[in-house]
Amino acid sequence: MLAPRLAAAALALICAGCAGQQGLDAPASSGASMTAQAAERGQRLASATCASCHATGQAGASPLAAAPPFRDIAHRYPLDQLEARFAEGLATSHPAMPAFVFRASEIDDLIAYLETLKAEP
Ligand code: HEC
Repeated sequence: MLAPRLAAAALALICAGCAGQQGLDAPASSGASMTAQAAERGQRLASATCASCHATGQAGASPLAAAPPFRDIAHRYPLDQLEARFAEGLATSHPAMPAFVFRASEIDDLIAYLETLKAEP
């Protein structure tokens, strides 16, 4: 009576292990979905911290006229140059504002998001 139930429980545990492993491996093995996830985080970061002044999407005007829309920024600068400026904290491009300080991962996310804006005509 007991043995089959134990065996079933053991099988269930083993299978749960397999599923968990697959769940971890799948995104890491796919470069495209990693980039998509980074771009999504970048978009969230942009809407949370930049959208009060910049237009951060594919369309629309910036709330603050002096702030260029992100899609223009994405087209105007090589993204590796922007990456360097984000790393500096954008102090030079934002003289009238408190300097932004980004973590390296946040910069990657923002650049990945700007890449998606650049991809559009
Ligand atoms: C309080 C308003 C405000 C916020 C918030 C803001 N910006 Fe700006 N940003 C500006 C203005 C204004 C300019 C134009 C400055 C200039 O031309 O001297 C600018 C310029 C820039 C530029 C340079 C564009 C260029 O042509 O040199 C970049 C890049 C930029 N912002 C990125 C960001 C990012 C990324 C965020 C969010 C993390 C952000 N900004 C948040 C107001 C803002």
